[in-house]
Amino acid sequence: MKRQPLRLAILEAIRILEEAGVASPRNDAELLAAHVLGVDRGRLPLTPLVDPPVVEALGQLVARRAKRVPLQYLTGWSAMGEITVAVGSGVFVPRPETELLLEWGLGVLAGRTHPVVVDLCTGSGALALAVANAVPDAIVYAVDVDATALAWARRNADTRVEAGDSAIRLYSGDIGDRTMFAELDGLVDLVLCNPPYVPAGTYVPPEVADHDPEHAVFAPGDGLEVIRHAVAAGARLLRPGGGVAIEHDDTQGSAVPELLAARRVLADVRAHTDLAGRSRFATARRAGS
Ligand SMILES: C[S@@+](CC[C@H](N)C(=O)[O-])C[C@H]1O[C@@H](n2cnc3c(N)ncnc32)[C@H](O)[C@@H]1O
Repeated sequence: MKRQPLRLAILEAIRILEEAGVASPRNDAELLAAHVLGVDRGRLPLTPLVDPPVVEALGQLVARRAKRVPLQYLTGWSAMGEITVAVGSGVFVPRPETELLLEWGLGVLAGRTHPVVVDLCTGSGALALAVANAVPDAIVYAVDVDATALAWARRNADTRVEAGDSAIRLYSGDIGDRTMFAELDGLVDLVLCNPPYVPAGTYVPPEVADHDPEHAVFAPGDGLEVIRHAVAAGARLLRPGGGVAIEHDDTQGSAVPELLAARRVLADVRAHTDLAGRSRFATARRAGS
């Protein structure tokens, strides 16, 4: 079997993905090649020639990606902070922009001992597990309403414990339930929430429309229904000086800070943008110190 240049296989993959309208063809082609070879993307140049079965395996993955199957469903993982979590059918794929929420949250926790953290709408568990990894003495609670998401979160939580991280406490529940985590009222240092927030009827790309669970992406009407629950939970759960961060749609850059500011116990409300300058998440601190 004649070995083939990997560079040519990747160029062909980029061409196919470009034609299919994939947003980041080079990134995806290289990550798929790295996945097939079982190496980090940065090590691809160290493999100039590959066997035909590698080219074939890459071709099969590229064909599925061209049908707009999410890249992360094909590689089986998505990154959050310093960790990766397993993802696949039935669970929301964690997005790079949510790392901004994580970064802000880790800033709130700096200098605190045994901080209590709650991740509302945990999905794969990405945020909760990334906090547990970064702050080993944190006591991290996470909740989701969806049984499939919770199964992924449980699997990821077990993997992280095997890797040496602290265990998180996973719960099934609806964040609209005012008794959810009632035993933690006024005791929480950090509440993080990446809820469903896309207003119903908004166009989303095929990767999202056909693969992310609908209830993980869309919220009824103006898209603020679950965010309203997160604001209420944040106000109830936080201890004085604690912080809440809620991700939102770029059309909700005024609405979410207003919802936070309307809570008497919350102060220091801020709107945050992502690296592209799009309105992305809002934060507040519980008044007092
Ligand atoms: C956008 S995904 C975010 C998942 C994860 N936090 C992340 O950033 O990757 C939203 C998650 O919220 C869950 N969810 C939707 N409505 C909920 C509710 N009322 N209570 C609890 N979880 C909810 C969905 O099942 C989904 O897993």
